[in-house]
Amino acid sequence: MEEIRLQKYLAECGVASRRKSEELIGQGRVKVNGETVTQMGRKVSLNDIIEVDGKPVKMEERKVYIALNKPVGYISSVKDQFGRKTVLDLVKDIKERVFPVGRLDYDTSGLLLLSNDGDFTYKLTHPKHEIKKVYEAVLKDVPSKDDIKRFEQGLWIDNYLTSPANFEILESDGKTCKVKITIHEGKNRQVRKMCDKIGCPVIKLKRISIGDIS
Ligand code: URA
Repeated sequence: MEEIRLQKYLAECGVASRRKSEELIGQGRVKVNGETVTQMGRKVSLNDIIEVDGKPVKMEERKVYIALNKPVGYISSVKDQFGRKTVLDLVKDIKERVFPVGRLDYDTSGLLLLSNDGDFTYKLTHPKHEIKKVYEAVLKDVPSKDDIKRFEQGLWIDNYLTSPANFEILESDGKTCKVKITIHEGKNRQVRKMCDKIGCPVIKLKRISIGDIS
């Protein structure tokens, strides 16, 4: 975090107005890293320990929420062992340390959330919350009614039975089809594996919404 003036820091922490904070400093009631500060020019950062009347004062880091339209060709992690571009390369002007909320494959595009809010991340990614995720996909071939039923009722992938999903054909030219898929889980490459399972591999995949965010 950048450094800011002590009185601004105190005001942003909600201790008092900036003017009142200056008075507190002048009265010798404010300490920075154990030392009483009475001069106004002092600058501080999140790394400093600030006390007023012997009580610690902490600034909450600003919570940041980003809805990113991820292009294909970016990895949705903070670092990549193979040196590929990561989604953090797309949000370089954000000062806070944000993390991807869940994942999107390297070759999938669309909605990826980024945040520094751990509670928000937990609520959106923990399986018990069953947050709805909607994808648009182009598939090779066109599934039969039976295949669609199997897809919606649950498929065995990697020794795991998928929970109920929704599958809707939007367009078809007989050889490929464009579909809308809704799942409530987020296993690794789940949509691709489910589509493989019904014999219609994914050609293109894009996430269009997560819960109420689209
Ligand atoms: N399912 C997939 O197969 N890939 C994604 O990126 C997201 C869901």
